[in-house]
Amino acid sequence: MKINISKAAQFVAAGAIEALEPQVKAAQEALEQGTCPGNDFLGWLHLPSSITPAFIAEINETAKVLKENCEAVVVAGIGGSYLGARMVIDALSNSFGWLQPSDAPRILFAGNNIGEDYLSELIGYLKGVKFGVINISKSGTTTETAITFRLLKKMCEDQRGKEEAKKVIVAITDAKKGAARTTADKEGYKSFVIPDNVGGRFSVLTPVGLLPIAVAGFDIAALVKGAQDMEAQCDIKVPCAENPAAVYAATRNAIYQSGKKIEIMANYQPKLHNLGEWWKQLYGESEGKDGKGIFPASVDLTTDLHSMGQWIQDGERTIFETVISVEKPNCSLAVPSDEENLDGLNFLAGKRIDEVNKMAELGTQLAHVDGGVPNIRISIEKLDEYNIGQLIYFFEKGCGISGLILGVNPFNQPGVEAYKKNMFALLNKPGYEAESKAIQERLK
Ligand code: PA5
Repeated sequence: MKINISKAAQFVAAGAIEALEPQVKAAQEALEQGTCPGNDFLGWLHLPSSITPAFIAEINETAKVLKENCEAVVVAGIGGSYLGARMVIDALSNSFGWLQPSDAPRILFAGNNIGEDYLSELIGYLKGVKFGVINISKSGTTTETAITFRLLKKMCEDQRGKEEAKKVIVAITDAKKGAARTTADKEGYKSFVIPDNVGGRFSVLTPVGLLPIAVAGFDIAALVKGAQDMEAQCDIKVPCAENPAAVYAATRNAIYQSGKKIEIMANYQPKLHNLGEWWKQLYGESEGKDGKGIFPASVDLTTDLHSMGQWIQDGERTIFETVISVEKPNCSLAVPSDEENLDGLNFLAGKRIDEVNKMAELGTQLAHVDGGVPNIRISIEKLDEYNIGQLIYFFEKGCGISGLILGVNPFNQPGVEAYKKNMFALLNKPGYEAESKAIQERLK
């Protein structure tokens, strides 16, 4: 993985990025020594290097049971309890038909919304399909996931009988507390623990991400190896200029301080759509607090050049762009030649599709830079487990450093509670009587 900031540095005052080096170092030291705000959530920092082959084998063993017994597996979870798995599985899967290698069950995601049609259609789809469930919730009480799991548990038991259902329902939750833990223990489900000191959005390298990815048929050992190598590359001992996470954190903060408040993550591979979703949660939930924070947005290019391209090129100059570039495609396809050339495309005949894509990428970078959009370029060799593992740790470490430079606690999310309090009051949840009364007054 490489980071290139040459097309971003020109937009900030000379030396502004380097000037942040003391803050980058202080942030890294605070992370290492556990002296930063949110220091009870630093389990992600050296997580990759702590993952043992025995742990990977245990995950793969559980994945095997699900693979052997299920045509589909529903991953029930929301936010950090699903976005990482979804991002990796989408990035590595075939874009059409079954989403992953054909010997693996189809992975479906639910528990991430309260759409009645979505859930009804899911249940409709699962009728007659032998399915299992991975129920993921750190708190074990998240409403979206809990409603979904209640529906799926019943359906799975009706389909297979209670005893058989137990073999294909796995819980990933807290070691002791929460309804998901109580249910798992009472029913005797296989379960994995989400470590106390790893927050949801930093949990993709725990069973939260690793089990669904393994069930989808991907090599979690290679994913973890990529993250381990990136952990070493981003180590505090590595000089700032050679540490990709430090470079990213310093550059985006320097740009933010220069007045650009929105960072757009752009990809040129449709399979990376959910990398943008995962990254938005990681950075949005970590940095958007205390009236501060870069707003993370994402676009899929070249698709969105035909929708958001105008805004990026020419709208209010408050944005900068971080591009994920994949050097080599995994497949090979060229533009065919055509004798009649009715479409006038013969100037491309024989060229790889990826070469056209790369020229679109370069042309867009130059245009956007001309349009006043700073450009950070992150490139990986190809879409595989190892490279995605690198990206995961790079963005996590970059996020920790960046949030501390910004001066917030990157590891909490107090703002997420506000909607829940109102929703529970409106739904008359026991314990919310006072809030219910207050909210009814407001609605009069
Ligand atoms: O990053 C976070 O902490 C959140 O996005 C959580 O992952 C999300 O709210 C789901 O929470 P839980 O795993 O407790 O169901």
